[in-house]
Amino acid sequence: MSLTQPPPALPQYLQENEISQETRDMISTLPRDQGWIASHIYQYQGFWHSTRQIEGVLACQENFRAQDSDILLVTTPKSGTTWLKAILFSLVKRGEYYHPEPQDHPLLTKNPHVLVPHLEIGLYLQKPVPDLMTSYAPPRLFSSHLPLVSLPESVKETACKVVYLCRNPKDTFVSLWHFANKLRPESWGSISLEEALELFCRGVSMCGPFWDHVLGYWNESLKRPQSVFFIKYEEMKEEEEAGSHLRKLAEFLGCPFSPEEEAQGVVGNILKQCSFETLSNLDVNKRGKLSSGEEHSAFFRRGEAGDWRNHLTAEMAEQIDRITEEKWQGSGLKF
Ligand code: A3P
Repeated sequence: MSLTQPPPALPQYLQENEISQETRDMISTLPRDQGWIASHIYQYQGFWHSTRQIEGVLACQENFRAQDSDILLVTTPKSGTTWLKAILFSLVKRGEYYHPEPQDHPLLTKNPHVLVPHLEIGLYLQKPVPDLMTSYAPPRLFSSHLPLVSLPESVKETACKVVYLCRNPKDTFVSLWHFANKLRPESWGSISLEEALELFCRGVSMCGPFWDHVLGYWNESLKRPQSVFFIKYEEMKEEEEAGSHLRKLAEFLGCPFSPEEEAQGVVGNILKQCSFETLSNLDVNKRGKLSSGEEHSAFFRRGEAGDWRNHLTAEMAEQIDRITEEKWQGSGLKF
């Protein structure tokens, strides 16, 4: 099996050709390990990225200028990014589309990744200096998988708000494993659960170590609660609690629900419109591809909390739990 020639079907951020000589030289100095999808991943500022992704990270760090009104959704891969993108878009742009029922809502015809573009593996990978001023009306909504340490300086220096979403480590791992196998070229075969677990537990996964990524933002949300909102996938999944978390998110973003909106049931409408059932059954999400190459449907699998029980042995679960306990000890962060 040759791992040197990934076919063009790989998402853009995983393609290893087409990178500049400058990035190639820089990457050659970085620690390297086995990739889950691309042949290798590289450690930059303590976190693992594919070759091509690093090019986007560097361009984003150099050229992204946050504005005070920006909203940045940061996640680790497979923690429910697609879902929170839909929620943030519906929430922040609700004045434009709710009357009070959604009418001609962009989510009905566009995948959430199109409505809330990704910085380093989307916009800055396509162009080192994308035009974000005229193409996006404020408040601009972007997403990123960057760890705290790698965020462009202007995000920290402005009043830009960061919403950080994380998910149970075992479910994140299982979702990541499924996703990797979906994207891997057929000729490479699948990556086994055991092999993926070994890499994940060593911290070698896209934007990993997972635990360090989450802890960085958790601590930042405690230090700067007015700028960083930390939310768990599982909290949004709890039927009874989701509404109150959405209200807190709206307050954090400076767009609380009015008494009229409450009376009209806008909170429930947004949650329903962004539910797994609704989004995964829309034609736009069953067909079509992102410009980066992934099929829209790849972002909708089961959408449940606790699916790890269907995949991990007791030993595997304990292994992840042990690391979680060690890494987050004393932080107050728990699942
Ligand atoms: P599973 O693989 O466990 O089903 P990301 O968007 O960060 O790539 O995460 C993808 C995960 O979020 C997948 O998890 C996917 O099914 C789930 N997901 C997508 N849309 C969702 C929604 N509306 N509600 C809940 N989970 C959703």
